[in-house]
Amino acid sequence: MRIFPKADLTGRNTLALPARCARLIELENRTDFKQLKELLEEDSHVCVLGEGSNTVFVDTDLPHTVIHLKPPATMTQGIARENDLFVVDAGLSWRELVQWSVNQGLGGIENLAAIPGACGAAPVQNIGAYGVELKDVLEWVEVFDWQQGLFQRLSNAECQFDYRNSLFKREPHRPWLITRLALRLRPDTPLRLGYTGVREALQAQGISPQQASYAQVAQAITALRASKLPDPRTLPNAGSFFKNPVISAQKLQALLAQWPALPHWKQADGQHKVSAAWLIEKTGLKNQRVGDAGFYNKHALILVNHGQATGADVAGLAKKVIESVKQACGIVLESEPVTVRAT
Ligand code: EPU
Repeated sequence: MRIFPKADLTGRNTLALPARCARLIELENRTDFKQLKELLEEDSHVCVLGEGSNTVFVDTDLPHTVIHLKPPATMTQGIARENDLFVVDAGLSWRELVQWSVNQGLGGIENLAAIPGACGAAPVQNIGAYGVELKDVLEWVEVFDWQQGLFQRLSNAECQFDYRNSLFKREPHRPWLITRLALRLRPDTPLRLGYTGVREALQAQGISPQQASYAQVAQAITALRASKLPDPRTLPNAGSFFKNPVISAQKLQALLAQWPALPHWKQADGQHKVSAAWLIEKTGLKNQRVGDAGFYNKHALILVNHGQATGADVAGLAKKVIESVKQACGIVLESEPVTVRAT
């Protein structure tokens, strides 16, 4: 374990927002967890940080203790077999896990290729893309409760997964560090190619969708993502900044009367998901900036840092978006990333 007082977090969040925390604790192995009980006693500002790809540091000076789990030295050290499950360490990189899985001929997470972040962050917002969500393959999550000093396993149902949501996100003040995930990765998982663009992306590479391997699907999805999402190393961002709102059939009919072209998708419960990016474009805000916080020119759902943006700039722009969309159609957009504030 290593402890850094007054650590700089600017390089530890993909929006590259300037921030500093009271101390950063880097954990290297499972024996380190036990020390957290003592270290965090009476600490009311604790933030667990993975690769910082879905976190917005709104304030620059944070009173927090930030906990970071270092990835294991090799992939194989971070992956264990438990009956028919693969148990993965929270510190592993998610995109490397997907690559490892498809290279082994194991299916289940190939549609979630190239999503940045640590494995431990994946359940927090139930990562999802191209018709698959983490909850579809997750068996259980192990957490370390630093107040009790105990490990605990939560079943898939106990995690209360929902679209970009979970118990971990709804109740962020629980003294939990996600330490491991158990996934069902199997050589006979059926391919899921129903999402617009996936079959076309395979065909563009000369691959017949019926005969695609998991690795080929992952590769096609990686190319699709690269065409829509900016690389944080060249244009800092946190992926989709807002959730796509889910509305009633009645509300959808009213909106379609106003905007017949609004993209919408029926959900299992009869409600409809509508495109937040499309609504944001309708507000005409897309060329605006607050400080150096702005929109990605190819995708209105992605807020970016054009250079020197602060968390306050990003939060200011997000507020403008929420107000404008509300005024245009009565929908209140919800932010997707986790926000960390000084108070
Ligand atoms: N659209 C616009 N304007 C834009 C971009 C998109 O009108 O600037 C419309 C298009 O009509 C398009 C529709 O929005 O058909 C949906 O766009 P896209 O397929 O790019 O998906 P998304 O809703 O923007 C969601 C997830 C992404 C995920 C993709 C693919 C959310 C909040 N975002 O984006 O997840 O990769 O689908 O499955 O659900 C993330 O969570 O960070 C993320 C990147």
